[in-house]
Amino acid sequence: MLQVEDIHASYGAGAVLFGVSLEVKKDEVVCLLGRNGVGKSTILKTIMNLVTPGSGHIRFKGEEITGKRTDKIAKRGLGYVPEDRDIFSTLTVLDNLKMAEVASKKPNREKALEYFPILRTLLDQEGESLSGGEQQMLAIARAVTAGSDLMMLDEPSEGLAPVIREDLKEVLTELAKEMPILLVEQNLQMTLDLANRIYIIVNGGVAFVGTPQEMEESKAVEKYLML
Ligand SMILES: Nc1ncnc2c1ncn2[C@@H]1O[C@H](COP(=O)(O)OP(=O)(O)OP(=O)(O)O)[C@@H](O)[C@H]1O
Ligand SMILES: [Mg+2]
Repeated sequence: MLQVEDIHASYGAGAVLFGVSLEVKKDEVVCLLGRNGVGKSTILKTIMNLVTPGSGHIRFKGEEITGKRTDKIAKRGLGYVPEDRDIFSTLTVLDNLKMAEVASKKPNREKALEYFPILRTLLDQEGESLSGGEQQMLAIARAVTAGSDLMMLDEPSEGLAPVIREDLKEVLTELAKEMPILLVEQNLQMTLDLANRIYIIVNGGVAFVGTPQEMEESKAVEKYLML
């Protein structure tokens, strides 16, 4: 469903991605693991064309999206929840969801509220007054509301208490029944529980790809993720 082929990317003169290729198939949860600063977020940003790739190709639902406008890519159904969550902090939960509807061809607010029933009780509350976990739920709910066909999430569990993390894992398990997910995650257990396939990123390239079982059987974790 999403194919990334040999992308290179840089910030000004600083090269960050050196030929990354990866794939997310229908019904798959794919996780990107890697130490801080190796380029995981940049991979997602490049897919959304928030960072323009210097070379390489990105295809989504069979169509080349390389270099297309970010809003057009989103409208084609590629959902993206960035690391900083990026909700409108001065708007209410309801207005945040409405903004996602405006930008969408096939909005689905009801579906989002089915995943996150707690948001129904918070509809009139402003984004900035929500807890970290609630903000994360709102950020994902917005991408669901926008009618996404594939969801990219950048470290959704970051900063969440362990019990909220468990809730999030359940929501992502439910979401995965509905659409493929590309997940950047530092939490190893979460990754092992959710992923069908794992890519370990080292210095802007793919160092390992395999199933959670293959990752555990290899020495990949010790080799690429331990300090
Ligand atoms: N806007 C930017 N301008 C310049 N350099 C940047 C910018 N954003 C990221 N970088 C650099 O690019 C490299 C990769 O950053 P990126 O955010 O993709 O890493 P990451 O794997 O997501 O890290 P983390 O796990 O800490 O989120 C880092 O060296 C970072 O300092
Ligand atoms: Mg990051």
